Amino acid sequence: MLSKIEIPPRISPYPMQVVLVGATVNDKPNFLTAAWMNRLNGSPPLWGVAIGKKQYTLEGIKEHQVFSINIPSADLVEKVDYCGIVSGRNADKSKLFNIFYGKLTNAPMIGECPLAVECKVFDIVDLPSTALVLGEIVAAHTEERFLTDGKIDPLKANPFVLTMPDNSYWTLGDRLADAFQVGKRLKHDSMSD
Ligand SMILES: Cc1cc2nc3c(=O)[nH]c(=O)nc-3n(C[C@H](O)[C@H](O)[C@H](O)COP(=O)(O)O)c2cc1C
Repeated sequence: MLSKIEIPPRISPYPMQVVLVGATVNDKPNFLTAAWMNRLNGSPPLWGVAIGKKQYTLEGIKEHQVFSINIPSADLVEKVDYCGIVSGRNADKSKLFNIFYGKLTNAPMIGECPLAVECKVFDIVDLPSTALVLGEIVAAHTEERFLTDGKIDPLKANPFVLTMPDNSYWTLGDRLADAFQVGKRLKHDSMSD
């Protein structure tokens, strides 16, 4: 008999990637911190982020149908947290970062972030208290210094994650195993049965 106990269902996965969502709102770049974000489709490349219906950033995304997702490094934690506790309705968040643009005029991206992707809206799914914004990535931007053998190197990009309900930010821990590899031993074992 397993000694499982039940806890309230309104729970978060842990950890969650912390990102900054960029949009043009009332002609000005604005950034919202988000943790309810994930990759959802390979081809076309779709990422989705759940944005509260009252968020200022959502107004800009709906108006222009484009936005950016920027993955910050740990040294940006103070500014990232600030973007998550202050609304662009009450403060100008456009001066916090070096902003650059790629293909999409109204998708401001953050120069300090090791990875910035610009997206056009693929769909917006209306959920009870959030809008699940699905974005198709039209271009992804990084720098040579964050790459090893031409690929994003997580140790160089140094992202951070959020855990709830303890409300903590964490950097990456120890590397555990080779993904898509470590399970192969069990595959061979089961096939030889
Ligand atoms: C760590 C963290 C994660 C957050 N994740 C989300 C999220 O996934 N979706 C969301 O709508 N708001 C999220 N928020 C809250 C918004 O970032 C916050 O309400 C922000 O002030 C909204 O900015 P805006 O009104 O300028 O758009 C998060 C805040 C923090 C600090």
